[in-house]
Amino acid sequence: MDKLNTIFVKSDVECIPGEKREEILKNPGFGISFTDHMALVKYDRQNGWHDGQIVGHQDLNVSPAMMVFHYGQAIFEGMKAYRTPENDLVLFRPEKNAQRFNRSAIRMAMPEIDEELFIQACDKLVLTDRNWVPQIEGQSLYLRPFMIASEAHIGLRAANKYLFLIIASPVAPFFQSISDVPAISIFATDKYVRAVDGGTGMAKCAGNYAASLIAKDEAQENDCQDVLWRDAKERKYIEEMGTSNICFISRDTSGNVELTTPVLDGSLLDGITRDSILTLAKSRGYIVKEEKLIFDEIIEKISSGQITEAFSCGTAVTISPIGSIVTSATKTIVSDGKAGEITMSLRQELIDIQFGRTEDKFGWRHNIK
Ligand code: PLP
Ligand code: COI
Repeated sequence: MDKLNTIFVKSDVECIPGEKREEILKNPGFGISFTDHMALVKYDRQNGWHDGQIVGHQDLNVSPAMMVFHYGQAIFEGMKAYRTPENDLVLFRPEKNAQRFNRSAIRMAMPEIDEELFIQACDKLVLTDRNWVPQIEGQSLYLRPFMIASEAHIGLRAANKYLFLIIASPVAPFFQSISDVPAISIFATDKYVRAVDGGTGMAKCAGNYAASLIAKDEAQENDCQDVLWRDAKERKYIEEMGTSNICFISRDTSGNVELTTPVLDGSLLDGITRDSILTLAKSRGYIVKEEKLIFDEIIEKISSGQITEAFSCGTAVTISPIGSIVTSATKTIVSDGKAGEITMSLRQELIDIQFGRTEDKFGWRHNIK
């Protein structure tokens, strides 16, 4: 048995013919096609993490008694590999994903995984599937690391066996119609909530997303692309969106730019894009505020013109401008329903760093070798 800390490349054979891959890469969509390989690492209580491998992307042969099917011990991450103009392959702050993965694992009574092993598995998978990292502007290779409880057992307790996997998918921008980055509409649900105090809101666990799907349907019925979540207790405070965090742009009385976002209070996801945007905003001299944001006050500030822009930020969505915030009774237009100027310049600065087009002044790029 191969113990911790090395991922062996057991297969580097291309299963999908080159012409088919090129065809897919012309128009990859989001999360539809998968690369030739995947990373797979096993865990059991006795041996810890072991047998790390890069193998062909394949179906899993599993027991119907596998605990993930019954009690939902499943966590995941979302990352992207980018191709730079020099043809280098880079990840963006992967250690942050590894750390958040472990925070999710702890919350779900799952084993933590060595940060280096997590990153090594990403690196080796991307290197093995390097031909799948798109060349086209704006596209990238999305990595989906995840962990599931794999023990076959029906009693209710934390499993003794787990699988850690990474699959990869070439992706175009998440809100597919984006060619000129139009602003999205978001629906503030008052029927459903995402996270409660002491619950799993800060974890990237599958159950959070399962519970969100009905609200996503509700958003779509209201012609919106995503959900805006409010707190579970009072439906008063803005938390985050279905697949991203949210930020607002305003100016103080002296004309200084302010960027405001909900404070991390344990019930929302500590987004890596959010953290990067706050850093970029501070380095521009913006006033950055992480606060409890009252939904009604934000709507009032948008209506009065004090808040001039809003955007969502996350790995899948990068930065998407928000053009309207809808409830069952109201529709509030932000920035005339268009992408705001500051939003777009922050977006540009971020993606230029991610795609290796500008100096990496914060040391965020991780070169895959
Ligand atoms: N909030 C939710 C619910 C998400 O699914 C995501 C995406 O992963 C984010 C926030 C943003 O996190 P990140 O910027 O690390 O992708
Ligand atoms: C990401 O941004 O990587 C996510 O995990 C969002 C996903 C639910 C599409």
